Amino acid sequence: MKIPFNIPFVSGDEVTYINEVIANKSFSYPGIFSKKCELELAKITGCESIRLTASCTSALELAALAIDVKEGDEVIVPSFTFVSSANAFALRGARLVLVDVNPNTMCLDENLLEKAITSKTKAIVLVHYAGFTENIEKIVELCNANNIFLIEDAAQSIDSYYKNKHLGTFGDIGCVSFHDTKNIQCGEGGAILINNKTLIEKIDVIIEKGTDRKAFLAGKVSEYTWKTLGSSYGLSEINSAFLLAQLQELPIVTQKRKILFNFYKENLEPLKNLQLIDFYESAYNHNSHILFIKLKDALQRNELSIFLQKNGIAAYSHYSPLHLSDRGRNYPYFCSTNDYSKTESDRLLRLPLYFDLEKEHIIKLIETLKIQLK
Ligand SMILES: Cc1ncc(COP(=O)(O)O)c(C=O)c1O
Repeated sequence: MKIPFNIPFVSGDEVTYINEVIANKSFSYPGIFSKKCELELAKITGCESIRLTASCTSALELAALAIDVKEGDEVIVPSFTFVSSANAFALRGARLVLVDVNPNTMCLDENLLEKAITSKTKAIVLVHYAGFTENIEKIVELCNANNIFLIEDAAQSIDSYYKNKHLGTFGDIGCVSFHDTKNIQCGEGGAILINNKTLIEKIDVIIEKGTDRKAFLAGKVSEYTWKTLGSSYGLSEINSAFLLAQLQELPIVTQKRKILFNFYKENLEPLKNLQLIDFYESAYNHNSHILFIKLKDALQRNELSIFLQKNGIAAYSHYSPLHLSDRGRNYPYFCSTNDYSKTESDRLLRLPLYFDLEKEHIIKLIETLKIQLK
């Protein structure tokens, strides 16, 4: 029995919708399917102004342009994150201030923020690792008190909530991913959730290569021209059609993932009680995107990963902390007291979790884990 790390979800209705796109002979953004997805996403998240983007990376780059990040601005980013959370702002010339994470949630440690904020801080990028978050009120308050934009990297957070409010709807902007590693997907895709209404018009220009094409399509101007810096950030109709089929199945996808996550949890509990592994789950309603365990150290983690591999099971680590990366060393100030970004990521191992996974796979995986950990 082989257990791959991920199998992207496929609903079965994708081809029907893609055939409709071909029949419509309209393929670019915005179109009928991107509009349908944006409405569907508005229902799910409660955010009224959503635009589909080519990726979450594009949504983050769009966000950096929308809040006008410039040379000399400081942007606070957790060191434990995917590179896109940092690149989007570094590309605009921002000085990144890398901040450590909470060792349980692996999300930005809000207790370090007061030390990291200066008069030059333009934005905080709050990454909801694994669809987890905690104490978001404190971060929102700090942003409001210091006139700082809050950008939520909710790449992993579709159908994740904090106190009944969807992640990505707390800050000025939220960015979501539909990459094929996510719970629902369209190959490469994303969305920008515009919670700060003063940014809507600007984002509608930036997403159209910096032009007023939206006004042109609405018949408000006779031609469209270059208005501001922008790029090609919208999602094509083929990807949007694929995504609509997935969005319509989101409740079923989340429900199955939660069942699998809880089954893992029950079966990992005895190993945790014997202090052979660490396991953490957010107390809030998360989407069961990632299941991670922690081992003693990097050596034990790597040995376990190789052992699983030899037994046909793929389990991976991530992320290498940004403050220790080649590019990250350009930003020498790392705000931390314990360097959990390094010590905890060294111990972290992600186990397979996807819609087509079955309980029997999890049983085999746990049995294999036990052999190595005894
Ligand atoms: C935290 C985080 N931010 C951003 C991204 C980038 O998303 P995309 O691949 O849609 O550009 C990812 C992708 O895995 C991610 O995990």
